[in-house]
Amino acid sequence: MKALITGASSGLGEQFALKLSDMGYDIIITARREDKLEQLAKKIKTNVMVIKADLSKEEEVISLYNQVKDQNIDILINNAGFGMCGYFDSYPDTTDKEMINVNITALCLLTKLFYRDFLKKDKGYILNVASVAGFMPGPLMAQYYATKAYVLNFTRALYKEAKMKKSNVYFSVLCPGPVDTEFNKRAKVKFALPGAKSDRVVKYALTKMFKRKLTILPQTRIKLAVLGMSFMPSKVIMAVTSRVQKSKIVKDS
Ligand SMILES: NC(=O)c1ccc[n+]([C@@H]2O[C@H](COP(=O)([O-])OP(=O)(O)OC[C@H]3O[C@@H](n4cnc5c(N)ncnc54)[C@H](OP(=O)(O)O)[C@@H]3O)[C@@H](O)[C@H]2O)c1
Repeated sequence: MKALITGASSGLGEQFALKLSDMGYDIIITARREDKLEQLAKKIKTNVMVIKADLSKEEEVISLYNQVKDQNIDILINNAGFGMCGYFDSYPDTTDKEMINVNITALCLLTKLFYRDFLKKDKGYILNVASVAGFMPGPLMAQYYATKAYVLNFTRALYKEAKMKKSNVYFSVLCPGPVDTEFNKRAKVKFALPGAKSDRVVKYALTKMFKRKLTILPQTRIKLAVLGMSFMPSKVIMAVTSRVQKSKIVKDS
C-alpha cells in the first residue's frame, strides 16, 4: 500500500503523510523545501521516499511522475497549493502564472497520469484539495477562489466519469475552511477566526475518502455556510466575501 502526497513539506500535506503512514501506507512526499521533507521523513514509520519538485514547472511535474510511476501507488493526494490576498492588479503577473500552474495545471496533469494507471489496475483513490473558496467568487483573492472552483468542479465531474465507467477508482474533493497552516503567511492574510487544526481536518478527510465520499466539508460551520450560500444571490455573497477578505489582509511592514 502506497500513497503520494504533494505539498507535504508543511500543513495539511504533512499531516496526510503522517496519518497514512500510521495506517500502514508507504509514503512518497514531494514539495520544493527538501529540508522540511527530510525532517518529516524521519517521523514516518513506514517506507518513505522524498522527491523535491517545483510543481509550477511542467517538466518537474512530469519528472515526478516518471520517478514514481512504477511504484504501484494506491492513493494520490493532490494537496499542493497556495493563495494570494489583495487586489488582482496589485500582485505580480508571475504570481498569477505560478498559482495557476500549481493549483490547476499540475493537479490536472498528475490526476490524468495517475487516473490512467489506476484505471488499468481498476483501483485507487484520488483526493484533490480544493477549499470552501471553490463554492463562491472571492473579491480580494479572486484568482485563488477561482482556482479552487476549478478543482471542485473538475473532481466532481471525474467522480461521475469514473462511475459511468463502473470503475473502482474513487475521487474525493476536500473543501476546508480556514486551517491553521503556513497558508496564511504565504497568502498574506490573517484569519478573523482561529483556523481548524490540520491533524483533525486530515483525519476527517481520510475517513470520508475511504468511505468514497465525493465532497468533503470538514467543519460544521463550513457545511452550514455552503448550504446558506446556495440560497443567496452571488452579489450578496461577493459583498460578504470582500468584507471578510479585506479584514484579513496583512499590510507589508
Ligand atoms: N490553510 C487553509 O486555511 C486552507 C483552506 C482551504 C484549502 N487549503 C488548501 O490546502 C492545501 C494545503 O495548504 P496548507 O493549508 O497546508 O498550506 P501550507 O502549509 O502553505 O502548505 C502548502 C504546501 O504546498 C506546497 N507548494 C506550494 N507551492 C509549491 C510549488 N510551486 N511546488 C511544489 N509544492 C508547492 C508547499 O511546499 P513548498 O513551499 O515546500 O514547495 C507546501 O508543502 C492547499 O491546496 C490550500 O489551497 C488550505
